[in-house]
Amino acid sequence: MKAVVVTDFGAEPQLVDLPTPEPGSGEILVRIHAAGVNPFDWKVTDGALKDSVRHDFPLVMGSDAAGIVERTGPGVTRFRPGDRVYGQFMRLPQGQGSYAEYTVAEQDGKIALIPEALSFTLAAALPTASVTAYQAVQAARLGDGHTLLINGASGGVGQSAVQFAARTGARVLATGTPELADHLRDLGAHTVIDFTLAPTHEQVAAAYPEGIDAVVDLVTPTGGNISAMAGLLRSGSTLVSTNYATDPDALAARGVLGVNLGNRPTAETLTTLAELAAAGELRVRIEAEVPLVDAPAVIAKARAGHATGKTVLVP
Ligand SMILES: NC(=O)c1ccc[n+]([C@@H]2O[C@H](COP(=O)([O-])OP(=O)(O)OC[C@H]3O[C@@H](n4cnc5c(N)ncnc54)[C@H](OP(=O)(O)O)[C@@H]3O)[C@@H](O)[C@H]2O)c1
Repeated sequence: MKAVVVTDFGAEPQLVDLPTPEPGSGEILVRIHAAGVNPFDWKVTDGALKDSVRHDFPLVMGSDAAGIVERTGPGVTRFRPGDRVYGQFMRLPQGQGSYAEYTVAEQDGKIALIPEALSFTLAAALPTASVTAYQAVQAARLGDGHTLLINGASGGVGQSAVQFAARTGARVLATGTPELADHLRDLGAHTVIDFTLAPTHEQVAAAYPEGIDAVVDLVTPTGGNISAMAGLLRSGSTLVSTNYATDPDALAARGVLGVNLGNRPTAETLTTLAELAAAGELRVRIEAEVPLVDAPAVIAKARAGHATGKTVLVP
């Protein structure tokens, strides 16, 4: 099968031929129809998890995908050949991922069936970004009348987070460039903050001098300085970081709940999100659909930033 691999941490991704994996006991072999691209994919191959998880090389890149169950291993009861499935397929100790024609998953893994009405492309765009957005908004403890800032709202996680937050009745402040402003308002943003004009925290502080109720921060990197975002929050509020940039102890001293969020997809959450997307109640902007063979160029472009939606690879 064709697959995009790295041969070591930090190595350039390359397209190679690999043997198609065999499903073992309790596992399914999935023929991939679309693979979603996420910043996590190259953070992993850069070595983000190298001290905590074993990696097998050559390592197939990628996590998110949608496809059809080709074969099942012994003891599989949850899925049958022909089922349309999607989810997260990264298995670092086995060297397996989603930028490939086939991958293997455990039947009890982070996968679920796809409703008929949902395309493989949209399904592949959901798992990491939309599950993170869903869980980040839950963690933000929003209520009617609350005001929330989503810092990094223009990207994959942010666009879903805007929709989940707007549904709670909260007032959503979303960062974005003028080109994306109409789209973000259409998704439910009350105010779009052009972060290229002046620092976001200065614009929010000027408009809400009394403070706001929550920040979902998708921008501050691990080890970065999140104090400007924290400074916007009043007592009783919540700061959620997807890059482990908050210091919950320091925030607790000011009456602010700090949450470092790692997404945890379950079959139930994936089913909920797929049903919302199939019904048009969760919208995902597909920025590009690109052949798998062009994955190395796609990764290089995505690393440079300026995402305006999700990119999906098609084997
Ligand atoms: N912990 C988890 O489970 C988890 C899960 C998913 C994602 N993440 C992390 O969360 C972050 C967002 O992920 P994603 O998939 O949404 O990434 P993405 O699709 O690349 O989007 C990031 C967005 O942030 C914007 N941005 C960059 N700098 C900004 C700034 N200073 N102010 C406002 N916006 C800014 C980018 O626009 P420009 O480049 O044009 O500035 C881009 O639109 C990434 O760091 C990712 O690794 C963590």
